[in-house]
Amino acid sequence: MNDVIRLLQSHRSVRKFTDQAIAQDALEELVKCGQSAATSSFIQACTVIQVEDKDAREQLVQLAGSQPYVASAARFLVFCADMKRHQLACNMHEADMLCGYTEQFITATVDCALFAQNVLTAAESMGIEGVYIGGIRNQIQAVTGLLALPDLVYPVFGMCLGYAAQDPELKPRLPLDVVLKKNRYDDSDDIASITEYDEQVRKYYRTRTGGKKDTAWSEQVADMLVKEARPHMLDFLKSRGYLLK
Ligand SMILES: Cc1cc2nc3c(=O)[nH]c(=O)nc-3n(C[C@H](O)[C@H](O)[C@H](O)COP(=O)(O)O)c2cc1C
Repeated sequence: MNDVIRLLQSHRSVRKFTDQAIAQDALEELVKCGQSAATSSFIQACTVIQVEDKDAREQLVQLAGSQPYVASAARFLVFCADMKRHQLACNMHEADMLCGYTEQFITATVDCALFAQNVLTAAESMGIEGVYIGGIRNQIQAVTGLLALPDLVYPVFGMCLGYAAQDPELKPRLPLDVVLKKNRYDDSDDIASITEYDEQVRKYYRTRTGGKKDTAWSEQVADMLVKEARPHMLDFLKSRGYLLK
């Protein structure tokens, strides 16, 4: 196992941070790592908003569903899918950009995810830890206003970064045979594998919570997926120029 593989397989989200700062130089180095990620058709459709303003951070804590680490992390970044600069590029050549394609939504969002994961992995390689904050989509309209995001720019998720003040256990992942299929999709053994995995996840939660939580992975998924998933998202994205066709 080499150092990169060891690093990737030791990822865990960290939600408690020390007061240690992250230098601006280091942050910029991390963002450059994000920029180095592969990008669909070279579109480079991710913009990062570095939120330094304390009041804005406190507002984001609430907008993300009361997640205090949004304020206590040394840095908080918002990763935005951004097709606005493409409109500028088209304007530079007097070309009328055709906006609103679902394909553009996919490519811009994927670009953002690849960019952000590079940032997090690079951070972890420097001893900085973090956690993604999808919670900012709870009140995405307010977040968009707070960050003054124009049309064609939408906040995909946030990310807390800082030095860890906790050392969480690794969260076990699904068995390989559930996620890796050969030649065709065959899920005939998945229920058996997931049942075994459920026990591992129960054990993980029991250890992490001193016995208070004892939930299987499948149970957690079943609880979650009977609830509506941010139903405001489609109308919001349409209002920003995405998912129109
Ligand atoms: C796009 C995305 C959004 C997430 N949003 C949140 C969030 O709002 N709050 C939070 O505490 N964790 C959030 N997480 C972290 C996940 O809960 C975490 O990655 C998952 O439970 C696996 O745990 P691990 O990262 O420790 O291995 C998010 C992760 C991703 C990839």
